[in-house]
Amino acid sequence: MNRKPFICGNWKMYKNRTQTIDFIKKLCSETLDLKDRDILIAPVYLYLDAALALTENTAVLICAQDVYFRPEGAYTGEISPVQLRDIGCTHTLIGHSERRKYFFETDEIVNLKTRSALWASLMPIVCIGETREERQEERTFDVLSRSLKNAFHMIERDQAENVTVAYEPVWAIGTGLTATPEIAQEAHNFIRKTLAELYGREFADKTRILYGGSVKPGNIKGLMSMEDIDGVLVGGASLSYEDFMKIIRFDCV
Ligand code: PGA
Repeated sequence: MNRKPFICGNWKMYKNRTQTIDFIKKLCSETLDLKDRDILIAPVYLYLDAALALTENTAVLICAQDVYFRPEGAYTGEISPVQLRDIGCTHTLIGHSERRKYFFETDEIVNLKTRSALWASLMPIVCIGETREERQEERTFDVLSRSLKNAFHMIERDQAENVTVAYEPVWAIGTGLTATPEIAQEAHNFIRKTLAELYGREFADKTRILYGGSVKPGNIKGLMSMEDIDGVLVGGASLSYEDFMKIIRFDCV
């Protein structure tokens, strides 16, 4: 199955305006020839507009790090999917483990946000993954199955086709501990089987599943060589231009 590799950088709450602009400008000019993969950056909300202006007619996609599930209203501090679409933003992360941990997002909220994003024609990258305790207690597959089914609750197949899934084992995020390619592949394969249960084999074969958690230039090749790993969601290493370029060019160096 031919799934286009998808390399995503999640900048979290890092980089000021100048750093954001300089990085994205360089990235756009150096990736013009890379048509065989999708490249995406999720800067902080504040600089989305500037980032979108810089990436017009380039290979770089721009993504929000989160979205609220109402189209508008008295929700101080929140940003709606309609507003993100209004500035030309096409993608959003949903359910990142830091949102779940620090901002108490539940599977139910993740589902509401996913449905709302899709309704507004915003393409969600939905993050799921088990904690260290859940893995130790051999509950990984239960957690993945539950969070995946909850995320897609009440979403029709034609809408679900716009979702990318990111498998991010919580124990590997920002810890330097990467899942081995084999551990990641096992989880990705399980996720794909679960997607097939939900929407059929053809759907599952088309859906891209990203790996996230301490991805670095040194482990990208091994991860991307796995059958069910279609791309990566990179935190720390995406902040360094040199490292992120190496990750993007995983098979061209
Ligand atoms: P990390 O973060 O690459 O720094 O582990 C990944 C993520 O949070 O998406």
